[in-house]
Amino acid sequence: MTIQKATNITWHEGNITREDRERLLQQKGAVLWFTGLSGSGKSTLALAVEERLFERGHLCFVLDGDNIRHGLNKNLGFSPEDREENIRRIGEVGKLFSDAGVIAMTAFISPYRQDRDKARSLLAEGSFVEIYVQVPLEVAEQRDPKGLYKKARAGEIKEFTGISAPYEEPRSPEIVVNTGELDLEQSVDKVIRYLEDRDIVRKA
Ligand SMILES: Nc1ncnc2c1ncn2[C@@H]1O[C@H](COP(=O)(O)OP(=O)(O)O)[C@@H](O)[C@H]1O
Ligand SMILES: [Mg+2]
Repeated sequence: MTIQKATNITWHEGNITREDRERLLQQKGAVLWFTGLSGSGKSTLALAVEERLFERGHLCFVLDGDNIRHGLNKNLGFSPEDREENIRRIGEVGKLFSDAGVIAMTAFISPYRQDRDKARSLLAEGSFVEIYVQVPLEVAEQRDPKGLYKKARAGEIKEFTGISAPYEEPRSPEIVVNTGELDLEQSVDKVIRYLEDRDIVRKA
């Protein structure tokens, strides 16, 4: 649990609201939370969704696991506690982006259900879209785009999700994308259709 350390702090409200920013951008701020095994396709899919939406005049921003670990979260490792803090910070950053009216996409394994649910709890109903990027472990391991499974099998990486650390599947994600069955185009279509149906973006 994260405790509130500072006292004597007061929230300062501005005149420009989230709704004002959303009107300016003509979209709804949201957090699209991609979760799934390493190699399931989170980064590839999030970036492809961003590209498609950008072409349609929408502002997105992808927060990607490895990139964030280079900066904001460089002091965190892969122990359960550090993973929890990693996800807590991403949830808060996602919330800031969505308050800015941006469609934030987070591409983190985020293996623990409880941590994802905590991120969800930061956002208003409908603003948090959990996207389970589902693929059998064998398929992810065969893709092994970063050679990490090979290292994990050789014992060179400890606490590797799916091999030596757990992955807790989402129980009721808003979207499930099976990247073993759908190609990238179809996967992007599925996400964008959901966003259109919920009026997060306008229909093309
Ligand atoms: N439908 C799909 N969506 C996303 N990636 C896919 C899909 N089908 C195959 N792939 C491939 O799977 C790999 C996923 O890698 P990556 O996006 O880095 O995964 P992650 O970010 O989840 O670790 C890439 O090589 C990508 O080309
Ligand atoms: Mg990735």
